[in-house]
Formats: sequence, C-alpha cells, structure tokens
Amino acid sequence: MSVFAEIPSGATILDLGCGAGLDALIAAGRVGLEGKVIAVDFSTPMLNRARQAAAESGLSNLELREADAEQLPIADEEIDVAMVNGIFNLNPSRGAIFQELARVVRRGGRVFAAELILSRPLPAEARASESNWFA
Ligand SMILES: C[S@@+](CC[C@H](N)C(=O)[O-])C[C@H]1O[C@@H](n2cnc3c(N)ncnc32)[C@H](O)[C@@H]1O
Repeated sequence: MSVFAEIPSGATILDLGCGAGLDALIAAGRVGLEGKVIAVDFSTPMLNRARQAAAESGLSNLELREADAEQLPIADEEIDVAMVNGIFNLNPSRGAIFQELARVVRRGGRVFAAELILSRPLPAEARASESNWFA
C-alpha cells in the first residue's frame, strides 16, 4: 500500500481541502510546467497561508481557489488526479462532495483520499490531551 498519490508529469491535479497547501506544493513540483495544481479550500485564513507558501516556493503552476467542496469552480472532467486529505470527516454532507468529484475528475482519472478513522475508542487521557487535537 502506498501513502503517496501518483502524480504524473503534465497532469492537472486537484487538492481538495488544501489547508496550508503542503500537498499542493509537492504535487506542483511533480507535475512540472506542463501540468498544474488547482488547490481549493473554503477557509480564507487557510488559503492565505497556502498563498504565502506558494509565493515563497516560486511555483507558477499552482492556482488557489476559495470554494466549497460541494460546488467546485472547476469544469466537468478537467481533473486527472484528485487528492482529498482530511475533509470527509468534517463534512456530514459528504455525498455531495463525492458527486462533485465524480463530475470534475475525467473518465479514467483517479481520486486519492486519506482520512483518520478510529478503529477503537480513544483512552480518556488521550482524548483529553489538547496536544493530540491541534498541531
Ligand atoms: C484537516 S485539514 C487538512 C488540510 C490539508 N489537506 C492537509 O492534509 O494538510 C481540512 C481542510 O479542509 C478544508 N475544508 C473542510 N471542509 C471543506 C469544504 N466543504 N470545502 C472546502 N474546504 C473544506 C478546511 O478548511 C481545512 O483547511
């Protein structure tokens, strides 16, 4: 099992719920100048952090867009590979997000999703420790 999305050179990548943009920056480096990364988040503060990181990186093939994952400002089948790292658990209406992914990812394209899932209840002390919840 790989923990890394496969990012082909020249591809158009979507980073959905990009946060501060680390995954988007790595992907932008991998697709090269023939490809591009569209990074989407609905949080202005997180996008501002991503904008700062993008500016510091000097990468010109990374676009940041402020939008809700349920209504993406992306054309039908525009995306070759979508990366979704840590947003499904935050969204009760995740069915709508899957529908948008099905619309924007081209036929034969791929979606890589990562999510934290508890396989058993957390011990009370782990649950109570703030450092376990905020980086
Ligand atoms: C747990 S963070 C993960 C950030 C990033 N993917 C990473 O791995 O570092 C979740 C991010 O998804 C964004 N998010 C959550 N629900 C969203 C939605 N419905 N539409 C757009 N962004 C969303 C949040 O604003 C936050 O920046």
